[in-house]
Amino acid sequence: MSNETLTITDNRTKKTYEVPLFKGAVRAMDLRQIKTDAEDFGVMSYDPAFMNTASCQSSITYINGDKGILRYRGYPIEQLAEQCTFLEVAYLILFGEMPSETQLKDWVREITHHTMIHENIKKFMDGFHYDAHPMGMLVSTIAALSTFYPDAKNIQDAQVRRLQILRLIGKIPTIAAFTYRHSLGLPYAYPDNDLSYTENFMSMLWKMAEPKFAANPALARALDILFILHADHEQNCGTNAMRSVGSSFADPYVATAAAAAALSGPLHGGANEEVLKMLDEIGHVDRIPAFIKQVKGGKGKLMGFGHRVYKNYDPRARIIKQAAEEVFKVTGKNPKLDIAIALEQIALHDEYFIKRKLYPNVDFYSGIIYQAMGFKPEMFTVLFAIPRTVGWLAQWQELLQDPEQKIARPRQIYTGYEKRDVVPMAKRTPCKN
Ligand SMILES: CC(C)(COP(=O)(O)OP(=O)(O)OC[C@H]1O[C@@H](n2cnc3c(N)ncnc32)[C@H](O)[C@@H]1OP(=O)(O)O)[C@@H](O)C(=O)NCCC(=O)NCCS
Repeated sequence: MSNETLTITDNRTKKTYEVPLFKGAVRAMDLRQIKTDAEDFGVMSYDPAFMNTASCQSSITYINGDKGILRYRGYPIEQLAEQCTFLEVAYLILFGEMPSETQLKDWVREITHHTMIHENIKKFMDGFHYDAHPMGMLVSTIAALSTFYPDAKNIQDAQVRRLQILRLIGKIPTIAAFTYRHSLGLPYAYPDNDLSYTENFMSMLWKMAEPKFAANPALARALDILFILHADHEQNCGTNAMRSVGSSFADPYVATAAAAAALSGPLHGGANEEVLKMLDEIGHVDRIPAFIKQVKGGKGKLMGFGHRVYKNYDPRARIIKQAAEEVFKVTGKNPKLDIAIALEQIALHDEYFIKRKLYPNVDFYSGIIYQAMGFKPEMFTVLFAIPRTVGWLAQWQELLQDPEQKIARPRQIYTGYEKRDVVPMAKRTPCKN
């Protein structure tokens, strides 16, 4: 055996085991041989919230949280955001390499071909209440796509998978825009396939009576950059949901709906909406010290700060801050920016945040840009879900092609009663509930 091993001594039995290290990790199944006797189940690893457990091997996204590095397929996020379009990056994430000019043209044409949704989808979206949260509408509608495309269940067929990927990436901006129009009581605007991915999305959101919507190029580019930054982020909560549901061989629509549901939580993609609420609550730069004191006292969190993986400045937050300047040149400055910048400065110099390595994450500035562009806070997580669909689908494909993967099924440490017998109703005493 090489020296890439761990020697483990079981102090219960005094037996020693040599366990191989695989790419710096212990295979949890190798621990099962460590038993007190033949009846013993063997040692398990216990890791609530996956704090130190790799659930897969992946070649899609690399993050170094200590150094603040993010790369898709090896390419630094800064270069991708500066030099590429979102659909180009989507191709890279899904297929592993940058597209050639012809490949990109074909890819854009294929995605654009799938932007329309069935009229019945529009009809059932009408059934949502006028104040339904756009994220709830998005999640349900993505799941409902499963009923329109029963062929999607054939997940082992690469061509079938490719078709669903095109459909999902093509249709998600349409569904997202329809949730927005629905919440405003506006008629739905159909896709305009002459436009780019982000311009078409903006057209479906904001087109009124004019025959053709002309998106502001600076805003369309800023949205494209934001989409690039949100396209994938390795094994986060939403992606883990995608993989977990996908591992049961459920179709990609319901798996994507599950991932989007995970994203909607305030600790995940829902954080950008929470940041805006928090900035509203603070209201003025003068109130920041009192707010920080409150957070340090354990009352609430500084939303948009902290990350499970980044223990340094989130590189996406830095790019977003730059993109914000371009947006504000067009829209005028969002007054919340001053509060956000002052809040960031105070937090970055405060012992509480320094000690815990809490830095601004992607959600800290994205909401401020989105609001300046005219989005309501309820739409922010929807804007996150559109590009992340690409990452979810790439991770889903990788899962299905990985011979080591099986249905995701964690173990538990049972803490309940030993076997006990049912007491007849008449003899039961009321329990506390
Ligand atoms: C992202 C997040 C869920 C990561 O959580 P995590 O890895 O489980 O980190 P923990 O909750 O264990 O936090 C470690 C410590 O920092 C504190 N902390 C973490 N995020 C904080 C925040 N945003 N504001 C204030 N304190 C925070 C915790 O209270 C904890 O303090 P303690 O050690 O005194 O108990 C968490 O940082 C958070 O809730 N941030 C705000 C929501 C957000 O912006 N989410 C978007 C992520 S992209």
